[in-house]
Amino acid sequence: TGMFTFDPGYGSTANCKSEISFVDGKKGELVYYGHPIEELVEKYKFVDVIKLLIGNGYIFPTKEESDQFERELVRRSYIHEGLRKIIDAFPDGAHPMANLSSSVSALSTFYYDHIDMEYEAEYQTMARRIIAKTPTLAAFAYRSSVGSPFVYPDADRGYVENFLYMLRAYPHGKLKEEISPIEVSALDTIFMLHADHGQNASTATVRNVASTGVHPYAALSAGLSALWGKAHGGANESVMDQLEMIGDVKNVDRYIAKAKDKNDSFRLMGFGHRVYKSYDPRARILRKLKDDLDQKGVKMNQRLVEIAEKIEEVATQDEYFLSRSLYPNVDFYSGIILTALKIPKSMFTPIFAIGRMPGWCGQVLELLQEPNVKITRPRQMYVGK
Ligand code: CMC
Repeated sequence: TGMFTFDPGYGSTANCKSEISFVDGKKGELVYYGHPIEELVEKYKFVDVIKLLIGNGYIFPTKEESDQFERELVRRSYIHEGLRKIIDAFPDGAHPMANLSSSVSALSTFYYDHIDMEYEAEYQTMARRIIAKTPTLAAFAYRSSVGSPFVYPDADRGYVENFLYMLRAYPHGKLKEEISPIEVSALDTIFMLHADHGQNASTATVRNVASTGVHPYAALSAGLSALWGKAHGGANESVMDQLEMIGDVKNVDRYIAKAKDKNDSFRLMGFGHRVYKSYDPRARILRKLKDDLDQKGVKMNQRLVEIAEKIEEVATQDEYFLSRSLYPNVDFYSGIILTALKIPKSMFTPIFAIGRMPGWCGQVLELLQEPNVKITRPRQMYVGK
């Protein structure tokens, strides 16, 4: 091939330098700006992680600062009425991810004048604005997909609670049941675990698109499209479909055999990872969170929990999975938890997106801090005439 290496899927090519997150695939460790994910989940909130990722590793020293930042985000969660009308025009039955990537792209039309490559501060505002509005756009996307009237943000609520509120409240703004701190904290953890993860497909997409000098919301919209696929962020939804399809613990062995069969395209969803060759630390935290919620009396779908546990038990002792280092990944248990939180399945991937948005924004900010941004331009191996 001459001057370059053939590396489909870029399994061994680094396209950038980054300080943001590090995935140790051998040890099964994940850090954001040097902070292990376990420490962040234990001591901090998602809003703190947002600041960490878009603030060059800044960690709030006091609760007051963190609260103030959260209030700023919630204050920015309202969207322009024109954008609401665009979302309203999407047909019922559409997938919320299609709606969400379109509305984030459309947001670049509402903030077009404000962009100037020279001013870093503008980008900081752009990042806060999109992170603030993504839960609103995601909740609106869901309501549009089921043909329900929108519920506007409630600025008296916290960032995560406000999202649940917009998703659940009746059109007149009342809730059937108040949102519980247990639910808020569980969703907060899920968001934190999804916030950044090296050059995964969607982050690499955001960087690639941003490298051309385009409006950052256009790059983020491309990231949302990349995330939607079932090999990536769409896996959480596919895991639930698969658990339903397996239907009963007694069928697990049969499906494991299918997953191992090289003549069958069936794969165990929520298993395997390009970088982790050991247990995904995010999956470990989620497995424990599932047990904690169960103990706290949050109603689980026991049948699906049993199937998932059985899959894990069988697969993690099976030669096929062991020799290929295939373990549960972040998507394996997240769907079960989200179902217990009464979140509709079509919202699993949008929830991943809300979690990943600060990581994408941090990566764009990092890219733009480079003096000479190199446009992404891989080579190809020409095999034609
Ligand atoms: N079930 C059965 N076999 C599998 C699976 C699976 N889930 N994942 C990988 N393999 C096998 C694959 O067939 C191959 O076998 P062989 O060496 O005999 O050809 C070997 O393991 C290596 O797989 P690969 O496809 O070359 O690995 P990759 O790094 O290109 O793909 C992956 C990684 C995550 C796309 C893949 O493991 C997969 O499709 N998993 C299921 C989908 C999923 O759970 N995705 C979520 C990923 S984590 C969060 C996120 O990014 O959203």
